[in-house]
Order: sequence, then C-alpha cells, then structure tokens
Amino acid sequence: MTKNPPAHVTHDDVEDSNPSDNRSFADVLTAHLSRRTLLRGGATAAAAGLAAMPLAQAMSLGLHANDVAPADKAVPRGLVRPGFAPVATHRLDTVTVPDGYTARSFLAWGEPLQSTGPAYRDAGLNTGAEQELQIGSHHDGIHYFPLTPRKGERNRALIAMNHEYIDAPVFHPAGSLAADGSKTAEQIRKEIAAHGVSVIEVREKDDGTWEHVDSPRNRRITAATPMELSGPVRGDALVRTIDSPTGTGTIGTANNCGSGRTPWGTYLTTEENWAGYFVNRDATRPREHARYGVPTTNSNYRWEGSEPRYNATATADSATGDYRNYPNTYGWMVEIDPYSAASVPVKRTALGRFGHEGAIFPRPRVGQRVVMYSGDDANNEYIYKFVSTRSYILTPLLRPMADALDEGTLYVARFNEDGTGEWLALDFDNADFKAAAAAKGVEFANQADVLVNTRLAADVVGATKMDRPEWGAIDPITGLVYFTLTNNSARVADNVDNANPRGPNTFGHIVRWQEENDDHSALAFNWDIFVLSGPESDSAILPFEDGDRPLDESSKHACPDGLWFDQGGLLWIQTDMSGSLMNEGPFGNNQMLAADPTTGDIRRFLVGPTGCEVTGICSTPDLRTLFVNIQHPTVHWPDGGDAWPRSATVIVTKDDGGIIGT
Ligand code: FEO
Ligand code: CA
Ligand code: CA
Ligand code: CA
Repeated sequence: MTKNPPAHVTHDDVEDSNPSDNRSFADVLTAHLSRRTLLRGGATAAAAGLAAMPLAQAMSLGLHANDVAPADKAVPRGLVRPGFAPVATHRLDTVTVPDGYTARSFLAWGEPLQSTGPAYRDAGLNTGAEQELQIGSHHDGIHYFPLTPRKGERNRALIAMNHEYIDAPVFHPAGSLAADGSKTAEQIRKEIAAHGVSVIEVREKDDGTWEHVDSPRNRRITAATPMELSGPVRGDALVRTIDSPTGTGTIGTANNCGSGRTPWGTYLTTEENWAGYFVNRDATRPREHARYGVPTTNSNYRWEGSEPRYNATATADSATGDYRNYPNTYGWMVEIDPYSAASVPVKRTALGRFGHEGAIFPRPRVGQRVVMYSGDDANNEYIYKFVSTRSYILTPLLRPMADALDEGTLYVARFNEDGTGEWLALDFDNADFKAAAAAKGVEFANQADVLVNTRLAADVVGATKMDRPEWGAIDPITGLVYFTLTNNSARVADNVDNANPRGPNTFGHIVRWQEENDDHSALAFNWDIFVLSGPESDSAILPFEDGDRPLDESSKHACPDGLWFDQGGLLWIQTDMSGSLMNEGPFGNNQMLAADPTTGDIRRFLVGPTGCEVTGICSTPDLRTLFVNIQHPTVHWPDGGDAWPRSATVIVTKDDGGIIGT
C-alpha cells in the first residue's frame, strides 16, 4: 500500500493576530550587564535560602500524597550536573541518547488502552470506534502520577499525556482523503477520538522493564468528552449554547499541547491552537472569535462536516439555539483528576482564555497563594500568571484545594527595557485596569467578558509582545522562572526590544526572571536572557561569569519549546524546529538538551527521529527513568520497516541504573 502525501503540516498558529500597538522601544542595545548583576545576586541569595530548608521538607512540598520516593532514592537537589557525553546532531530516523543510556518506545499512538482492546493497525486502518479504545496521537505534555508499587515492582504510576492533534495524511488509509479537504463522518469520529488526553497505568518491574498494565483507571478524554466550566465565566451569556443553555458545560477539549501538574496532584491540560477547529461564516466575527483567529471559510480539520458544534455561524434567533458560542468554551485550562476515572474534566476559566501552552506551578508553601504561569503561543502574544485568592494548605489528599483555581487574579507580564518587569492585573474591578480600558476605548461587561477576551484585556494594559511563549519551568534551587520563546517570524528589525532582541527571530531564546523577594505572587520581577538559541555564528549563553559565549557543536539548537527542571536542578530543553529548518539548517532533527543553570553548561542529550518534534518530559521520583514524547515522526519510526510513523513516548534509562543526566 502506498503512503499518503508527505505528512505533517505544522499546526503552529503563527498568524499575527495581535493588532494592538503595544510597541516596545526600538533601542536594540542590550542592557545585559546591569540585568545579569541584578539577577545573579538575587539567585544566589535565593539558593542560600532554599539550601537551608531541610531536604525532606523541600522534597515533600509540591508532591502528591502518593508521590513517595524511598529515602535512599531521593535526588539531592542541585547536586545533579551534566555528566554525559553529548550526542551528535543527525537526520536519521531513530532516537539517539548518550553512551551508557538506552531509549525505547512506549505507549505509541493506537496501542489499546486495555490488552483486550482493538490492536493497532498500520497504514491508518483502525476505525473511529477502535480509536476510541486506543491511545491518541501526537503526544505532547506528559506527567507522572505515582501509585504505591506492589511486590516485584520498583515503580507504579499513572501516566497522563496530551494528544495535541493529528496529521490526516498518515491517519487515514491511503487514497481515502477527499481532494477538497472535507472529511467523512467516520474520519471525523476517528480524528476526534485521537485528540485529548490519555491516562495509562504503568509499572516498572524489579528487572527494570516498564509495562503498560490493564487498569480501571486507563482512560481517554477526547474532543467528545463532556466537561464542566468553572470560575467566573461559568453561566455567563458568552458561553451559553444549544448544548448547555445555562452556560455551565461544554463538549470536548482539543489541541492539548503543554501540560502541568497541580500541587494537589491533578493534571492540567492546555488548549493551544483551538481556534482552528471552528469556523464562523458570519459577515462579522465577534471580538472573542476574531482576536483568536477563528477561520471564516472552513475549519482546519473540517469536523463541522458531521459535528455541528464546530460551526459557530449564527443560525438561530439566540445563542441558546445554535453553536455560535462554542469557541468561547475553548481556549481554557482543563483540570483532570487522573486518579478518578469517573471524574468530569473541568475548564478553569479564571486562568484565562488564549493559546495556552504550559501550566507551571511554583512549589507552594503552606499559607502562600497558589501561582500558575502560562504562555500564549502565537506571534507577539503574552506571558500570564494566575495568583489564587485562597492560600495553600497541606492535607492528606490535598483535594480541598481543587477549586483554588476558580478564584484569583490573572496578570500579564510587561518586560521593561531596563531588566525590570511588572505583572499587570486583568481585573474588571481594578482601578488601573479600568483606566487603561477607558483610555483605549475598550469596554468589558464584567470579569467573564475580560476572561473570554483575555488577549484583548492584555492588549489594553500594555503587556509586552513576546516571541511565541511556549513552556516555562521553575528552578527548584533558586526559584527563577524560565520560559522558552520559540521563534517569531513576524518580529521585524524595527520592533525588537531587549526581551525579544532579534527580528525576525528565527531561532528563539529562553528568558528567565526572578520575582521580587522570591515571592511568586509578587507584582514585580527582574529578568534576563538565559540563552539566545541558534548556530555557533548567531547564538549566546548570556549571564555567566566567564562572559557571554556562543553555543557550540554540542549545544547548538533552535526553536526551544518544551522546558522542564528535574528534581536535581537540571534544565531540560526540547526543540520544535519547522520542517524546513530541520531539513536545511545546521541542527539536524529536533532534539533535547540538558542545561546546568548555574554554569551555563548545555549538552545535547537526545536527538529524535526524522521529522519529529521532541516535546513533553517527566520522570520517576527517583529520576532513574525519563519519559520523553516524540510527536509526529514522518518516516517509519518507531516500528521501522515499511510501517507508517506514529507518535510515541520513549523511556530513557541509564544502563548502570543511575540518575539521568549524570
Ligand atoms: Fe503546540 Fe506551542 O506548541
Ligand atoms: Ca509546544
Ligand atoms: Ca512549538
Ligand atoms: Ca507540536
């Protein structure tokens, strides 16, 4: 059977849909020297403060009640330094890791949830009904939720992971796609079922091998799963639909990219490029559609062909008679309890509506408010932070915190040219917000309106347009927050600023900041650039005592996207270059690197197979097993031979059983 045309059209929403005039100064001259002094001094102080905290206490905070690492396996924070020999770039159709490490694929697209379920069939032959009982496609954000190991096991856990989207040419049998892009109801059923989230129970046996096990907790959440809306937008007129005239629920989640784990042990899945799943053919789109780029002719996936909720064109006399408000029920963070297969996913509207990429929680201390950072991944969009009203409490199961994400304040970041920054409240009742909106002639009806129109609210207060914010990560030693800015083709030379200093930004960079007084709920911060990604000739590792230095053969990379700190303090960077940059640039396939944030030592740890994106990473509490997702490979990985490619997780272990990265 011949293969469909070349796979993978990039899903990334690089449309420049931000029409606001939030210009930064055109002064390109960097202020790196003053900024790095500010940040490094603070980082050192923070590190000293944290070092004084007993290790057991530090380890206990932020871990789920079940998240128990035996004491002899606890990873000393800050003591992990890269000790492996970097791997070379390549364009092979395989995963490479350093000498002394092994990588093998696991939990691939199409694998049945239970061993009695329908087997994966190559060449797109599984039906929609079968896909509903199988692992989804395009693996992305992933988290590890520990369970108590049983006799004969080292580890047992629930793996929760996102399935961001699908590539139709390698998803349906060859020759089955209509030339006009429309889809059959059966094709749509299968695509809907491959989106969303998988929860899979896994175990590591005493011999070190990992298995996917049958479990009543194995579960799929898809673009067809009923969900609740909670927070300020619940019940608002903007989310009332024919399916939920009270505006309290919706159906499905889609384009789930980065993810996060709450301090109370639930999974947060993001909705990133959700706008493209809808179409609105009305002569005029409301601002809550237009500002997010809801298409006007057909949706990108054409699901409206058999599922009318994806058609937001007004057809009835009122919103409760049609689907015009369906797009307003997307663009949120969705909280899922992986430990309860019967739990209904909840869209937490207080966290804002945009192209959510990650969900990053600082480890909360008892009595402090819960904070979550999230980026909006599109050209010239913003970085946000949510601060809860309620304070964090520690209880055996932490479940009383489950609604902590429903009440609080959403802020957006302004990065000033002098290395300082501010968090600007998007709060209908805030005097500064009201004044800013009035000055721009923008009206909001209530806080629900502010949240449904989060991007517009951020425009109003003068947030800094960033180069596509993707994932963030928080240094467990210093508390500094790192964020990837993957690239920005729309930034031109005359609108660069110090936080986004290259135009166009082809290779991306990583920014980092320190909150005032090391308090993540603070309203001010100091920032710096950690690395300007790129080839040797156009890159820099910036804030280090031995001076700025370019990336080299073992550290060069482009388009940083996934970002994660492990328990030992290593920063893991995953890349998502476009196909053309992968094929023609000096970087080879997409890759993953480990960075020591103290020394700036960056080393390539993993290179993925042809055409893939490396995205999503988590580990066992003992840091002896790493789970890394490989999304949209394009040739024959992982099955080889003539098999069609499929997304999968890879398990990485050190052959001597040691801590990953050492
Ligand atoms: Fe789905 Fe922004 O990457
Ligand atoms: Ca991403
Ligand atoms: Ca990306
Ligand atoms: Ca992707």
